Amino acid sequence: MKNLFLTTVALVATLAVCGAENPPALVPVPQHLTFEPGRTVDLAAARICIPGQEKELIAAATLFSRDLARESDLSLKVDRKAGGDIRLMLDTSLGEEAYRLSVRPEGVVVEGGSPAGVFYGLQSLRQLVAQYGTTLPEVQVEDAPSFGYRGAMLDCCRHFFTVEEVKTFLDILALHKINRFHWHLTEDQGWRIEIKRYPELTKIGSRRAETVLGNNSVAYDGIPYDGYYTQDDVREVVAYAAERFIEVIPEIEMPGHASAALATYPWLGCAGEGYKVQTCWGVFPEVFCAGKESTFEFLQNVLSEVIELFPSKYIHVGGDECPKESWEKCPACQQRIRDEHLKNEHELQSYFILRMEKWLNEHGRSLIGWDEILEGGISQSATIMSWRGAKGGIAAARAGNKVIMTPNTHCYLDYYQTKDPRRLEPWGIGGYVSVGKAYSLDPYDQLTEAERPYILGVQGNIWTEYIAGFAHLQHMVLPRLAALAEVGWSCERRDAEDFRRRMEVFRKLYERQGWRYAPYFFDGTDLPKE
Ligand code: ACM
Ligand code: ZN
Repeated sequence: MKNLFLTTVALVATLAVCGAENPPALVPVPQHLTFEPGRTVDLAAARICIPGQEKELIAAATLFSRDLARESDLSLKVDRKAGGDIRLMLDTSLGEEAYRLSVRPEGVVVEGGSPAGVFYGLQSLRQLVAQYGTTLPEVQVEDAPSFGYRGAMLDCCRHFFTVEEVKTFLDILALHKINRFHWHLTEDQGWRIEIKRYPELTKIGSRRAETVLGNNSVAYDGIPYDGYYTQDDVREVVAYAAERFIEVIPEIEMPGHASAALATYPWLGCAGEGYKVQTCWGVFPEVFCAGKESTFEFLQNVLSEVIELFPSKYIHVGGDECPKESWEKCPACQQRIRDEHLKNEHELQSYFILRMEKWLNEHGRSLIGWDEILEGGISQSATIMSWRGAKGGIAAARAGNKVIMTPNTHCYLDYYQTKDPRRLEPWGIGGYVSVGKAYSLDPYDQLTEAERPYILGVQGNIWTEYIAGFAHLQHMVLPRLAALAEVGWSCERRDAEDFRRRMEVFRKLYERQGWRYAPYFFDGTDLPKE
């Protein structure tokens, strides 16, 4: 073996330098891990090879070597042809996202049930290099996720984040083995995705005149605010995510949170006039008219372009926080209620969502909505995102609907991370979700064995009313995202004390990547001082 060698003579010195006697500290914690502290493996001159020449594995290897070059002293060549020291292979007897990682003096082998599995094995190897440097202890890992859906949502509407920032956000997700990016693209305060058929959406709808100051105070900054993603930008983000085995799920909000669309095309609303792109935060009565056919035509045309851009199985249609007063006053909406024999405006909302779901299904896609879509009744095939606590998710699972658990009590990363009464933290929307609280989420709470399979997974949500910049965003996301990642990947084998030990090591990777993270979990100031 040319490039890897076992050093037993220099062992004592090596151990002192790289801490190879310490157990590996992987986040999320793997299913099985063994290590031999007495034997070390030197990667300094290693090459990566892909014996099967699979294109996706070559791409994963290239990314891995780029990441390592940024965050370690290792510069690994990807060698397609020759036998290398780090071999990437598929083993289809493993589960789709499962992997096996073997670090031995004879060589390093990363095997995955699919290219995604190999990618996750490489993320673990990255962590080992961050922990030990180029001299690793002998390690064997067998690993697979608890949940197939491990998500993070980013609101790019209240505040806009550039394509480069979104890519960094995706880099963060990838390191945490998160496989869904829920991209919140339309809102009261800004429409952020180019729709070719309706170009005014990104001329008028993406711009607000100014932004409220502070905690929804009476003062405004007087500064126009705008930003949107062109369709090329979207394609770039979707491709970047796919290279990291992350599926992007777009959210096009309806029937509420629609002010920006209505300000652009007032005929979309019940009143037909008097709308603006909102400049403060909250829930607004300006919603899509459910009575006019032109509303559905518009939304279907929008979704036609959206499904061309996003290959995801799921399309998120929002459905949350839709006040009903404009429907109560609108002759067209009231006529719809009569024509469709609906009982009330809640059933009108169900009519709206069911109609959009039917359209999505006819186009080969599945619908996700926030838990409000349960209120007037839903189809069996809709997937619920439970955000107002877990109760919506529990009810949906009991009714046989698929559920993604994202309760605000544990998963809202725009909440404060401490209970410091002096509020020295950067702005949050309110509330309190410490790392420990996020870590304690039980996605199966109150569910029977028979109901558990309806839980697809978990997701952290980052709403950005109070997060105007990317450094602040990272501070809100890290390290809480690591806690949620562990819930999603390692649900049944969590251990809070061991997580703390591992995070002390893992955070080095945040630092090497130049990612900001909140210190409270590490310095103990996240806990309430009673
Ligand atoms: C939500 O937080 N309104 C889904
Ligand atoms: Zn109406």
